[in-house]
Amino acid sequence: MNNILVTGGAGYIGSHIVEQLAKTKARIIIIDNLETGYKKLINKNAIFVKGDIKNLEQLSKLFHKYKINSVIHLAAYLNISEAEKNKKKYFENNVRGTLNVIKCCQNTNIKNIVFSSSCSIYGNTKGAVDENKKANPKGYYAYTKYEGEKIIKKYAKKFKYNFAILRYFNIAGASKSNKIGEINSSHGHLFKNIAIQSLKKNPKINIYGKDYKTKDGTCVRDYMHVSDLSSAHIKALKYINNKSKSIILNCGYGKGYSVLEIVKIFKKMNKNLKINFTKKRMGDVGSVFANTKKFNRTLKLKMKYNSIEKILASSIKWEKIMGKKV
Ligand SMILES: NC(=O)c1ccc[n+]([C@@H]2O[C@H](COP(=O)([O-])OP(=O)(O)OC[C@H]3O[C@@H](n4cnc5c(N)ncnc54)[C@H](O)[C@@H]3O)[C@@H](O)[C@H]2O)c1
Repeated sequence: MNNILVTGGAGYIGSHIVEQLAKTKARIIIIDNLETGYKKLINKNAIFVKGDIKNLEQLSKLFHKYKINSVIHLAAYLNISEAEKNKKKYFENNVRGTLNVIKCCQNTNIKNIVFSSSCSIYGNTKGAVDENKKANPKGYYAYTKYEGEKIIKKYAKKFKYNFAILRYFNIAGASKSNKIGEINSSHGHLFKNIAIQSLKKNPKINIYGKDYKTKDGTCVRDYMHVSDLSSAHIKALKYINNKSKSIILNCGYGKGYSVLEIVKIFKKMNKNLKINFTKKRMGDVGSVFANTKKFNRTLKLKMKYNSIEKILASSIKWEKIMGKKV
């Protein structure tokens, strides 16, 4: 486990994982093309290589140079609307890019791969969804994540690695250190949008769609704090390494909140918030939240931020800090 490659380590979630990994004895190598990642998120204790996972030759050289034995693979595009409009771009990056990462595991010392998958592979669900539910990806982004999972599974025996496929639900919040958080706003994430609006005099939130078959017509999601998710990566990596076993885990808190419920919590803090309902986004599903039994049983992780108010406060705090820094 000592030489760990983090693809997409200059991104939002990747930088939080690296911050926690840096507290271990591991040597951390980051590859990121900085398309949606940022230099200021790169941890000083990591080796940074500006590069692209689409470039197989460059990637392969890096694996050999740093004698990589574990990979945490996050690099991907993740804007669901853009994915519908530009399928080729998403296929090349998310599917072919993942295939390149796996190709580099052939004839090397790679023992462990942790892959960032997504709850979107389940499609629309009724009630809490567990890991055994048959995949039913709805949009093209979800399809690319599902194809990524298939690639990881397909080559595991042949290339002799164990994997942890982590199906993130919706990730939000920022590190307690105040050094890192979500900068990029292009992914259209609710908590990022709220945080941006929290700094405005006349805040306004768009809610995409109000006639989903959910409690109040708006989308229902399971929001997890990025610090708890990062701890889950460290634990999952240790688990597959120590037990020589592969796992697939949902990463969420197991509770579904509607977008309107969250916006109303924000409105309590910001009385002049204007709520604007607009048309549905392509690729969005009505409801998806996690059954977390397997996650809890396997990782036995003590969650530190399992509260919408805490996540909201953390996102807003970061936005204020970032506003001063950027
Ligand atoms: N944020 C969420 O709520 C969420 C939910 C489910 C899954 N995920 C998955 O988590 C992962 C990380 O997402 P994030 O929210 O940190 O987004 P992000 O955009 O902040 O991070 C992605 C990083 O990957 C880099 N990257 C993209 N393509 C690359 C390439 N070809 N070569 C090298 N680097 C490349 C980007 O520059 C960026 O730093 C993604 O795989 C995403 O699909 C995220």
